[in-house]
Amino acid sequence: MQHIWYPFTQAKTASPPLKVKSAEGVWLELDTGERVMDCISSWWVNLHGHAHPRIAEAIYQQAKQLEHVIFAGFTHDPAEQLAERLVQRLPHPLSRVFFSDNGSTAVEVALKMAYQYWRNQNQPRTTFIAFSGAYHGDTFGSMSVGGRSLFSEVFSDLLFDVEYVPFPSTYWGDKQVAEKEAQALSYLQNKLEQSDQIAAVIIEPLVQGAGGMQNV
Ligand SMILES: Cc1ncc(COP(=O)(O)O)c(C=O)c1O
Repeated sequence: MQHIWYPFTQAKTASPPLKVKSAEGVWLELDTGERVMDCISSWWVNLHGHAHPRIAEAIYQQAKQLEHVIFAGFTHDPAEQLAERLVQRLPHPLSRVFFSDNGSTAVEVALKMAYQYWRNQNQPRTTFIAFSGAYHGDTFGSMSVGGRSLFSEVFSDLLFDVEYVPFPSTYWGDKQVAEKEAQALSYLQNKLEQSDQIAAVIIEPLVQGAGGMQNV
């Protein structure tokens, strides 16, 4: 603990973290022998449970054959196959995948692609539209397109400005949901029509993740 910065943790006041020895399925096993149920899939990452035999076996087999290779000027079957299968699930006309290494950098890459696209068209555009209260990660670009929060406040001087569209936040049984969605869409439509500076609209579908598990 003396040598680690733990994320989202106040080093002086936080209680000592629980030490996990192993995990299986939904259960974490601590070094004390106690078991803890991992109800957030370790920040929504272990969606198929911990130590899933099929995933562990696939990682083992792949690591024995080729664990990684520079991805400029080289390629390999697993990446090509995954990209092809992902594209089959994407709506037309999306036809390409860029592999990144986590959520925040995926967002950075997307912002940079949109920005560079307009530069390449000789029509530079600098404005991004996001949902109010959104969370897209903790790198500078992804913090910029997120709603401002306690965690990003200290960096606010370094974040670029973003236009926010109201999120039709609602809950099961909300009878005004259609009205709220229509309002959010018409607000967005107006923003898009009023400016020729919009480089991209950033939306992570279904939920806002850490910004709120919003079921709409
Ligand atoms: C909706 C959403 N986008 C982006 C991220 C950032 O992902 P990462 O923590 O892998 O950088 C998160 C993480 O919680 C998220 O919930």
